[in-house]
Amino acid sequence: MLKVATSRGHALVCLDARRRTELKVVEHRGNQEQEHLYDRGLRNSQDLRSLFHNLVGFETIIGTFEGYQTMTANMNTPGLNPRKEVPFSFIFKGPPGSGKTTTARALGKMYYSMGFLCTTEIMDCSVTDLIGTYVGQTGPKVKNLLEEALGKVLFIDEAYRLGILRDAFTREAVGELVDCMTKERYMNKLVIVLAGYERSMDQLLSTNEGLRSRFTEIVFPRLRPKDCLRLLQAKLLDKKINILRPRAVHVQQRVLVLFKKLGETASWADARDVGAIAKEITLQLFMNPLPAGQPMEITLEEIARILKRFYRDRRSKKEEEEGGDSSES
Ligand SMILES: Nc1ncnc2c1ncn2[C@@H]1O[C@H](COP(=O)(O)OP(=O)(O)OP(=O)(O)O)[C@@H](O)[C@H]1O
Ligand SMILES: [Mg+2]
Repeated sequence: MLKVATSRGHALVCLDARRRTELKVVEHRGNQEQEHLYDRGLRNSQDLRSLFHNLVGFETIIGTFEGYQTMTANMNTPGLNPRKEVPFSFIFKGPPGSGKTTTARALGKMYYSMGFLCTTEIMDCSVTDLIGTYVGQTGPKVKNLLEEALGKVLFIDEAYRLGILRDAFTREAVGELVDCMTKERYMNKLVIVLAGYERSMDQLLSTNEGLRSRFTEIVFPRLRPKDCLRLLQAKLLDKKINILRPRAVHVQQRVLVLFKKLGETASWADARDVGAIAKEITLQLFMNPLPAGQPMEITLEEIARILKRFYRDRRSKKEEEEGGDSSES
């Protein structure tokens, strides 16, 4: 961002690094800010979909964002201001590894391209960054963070901690956040995302009506076993590894059951763990010498064996942990 002198005071000019063109100018004149926004691409849903490329089960989420994109274009045409209508504060609820952080990054690109932000950058922080160490320090800390996040996405991970630790500090943090969001200086000038697991986020929202009414909720679905298999297939194909059709029909069923059981283990992190399994398979295959010109292939039976091993490892780790806990108590 550049600060340049103009006849009317000074202007903050955002530049698109790739196109080196002037994209947004905020004229400062006393306390008044006047914005001139320029179209920055991501003009159609095809572009938007490319941001969510490879994300399985994201149709509803993509549909929601496509709606905002269309609304922005439709309001811009007759000269209306979409900034006041499109949501700028979100609650992302979903299990571990379901795409919350990935979506916050995409949101940065999307809102930037719609002309609402002056950078695609996201500020990734935790509840600790909001909380002071003595009474009265939290409010200014929240304000400083919002100040720094102006024109960007502020992503607050594990935000449910704001609801669990119901002490004076977290109450002050939530109070200040909600208060600032309604101020002209911050309202619709940055995107705020509070992210966490569904049940704990619901708990947070139930304790604070101010949050519930001001934030738009986006729910990240848990991957179904067949989604896990689809994703694994896609990740392996990316590495030019084909999954061979099983000889017996029941093998696919066995793979789906194993994904279901893995999904029920406490430490399962949805797509992140499918990625870890794909990585392990890739490693195993590429570490062995390959006859020249032969395509890389793996049978579904072999995948079932790998999943079984993965599941056993998870279970034995859990048992070890529980054993450790009980010996400590
Ligand atoms: N639905 C999905 N389909 C395909 N890949 C996905 C999906 N969700 C997440 N991923 C991939 O899984 C990995 C982890 O995603 P991400 O970090 O966004 O999850 P998260 O919800 O923020 O997890 P956590 O709660 O642990 O912070 C990334 O590589 C992401 O691309
Ligand atoms: Mg995350």
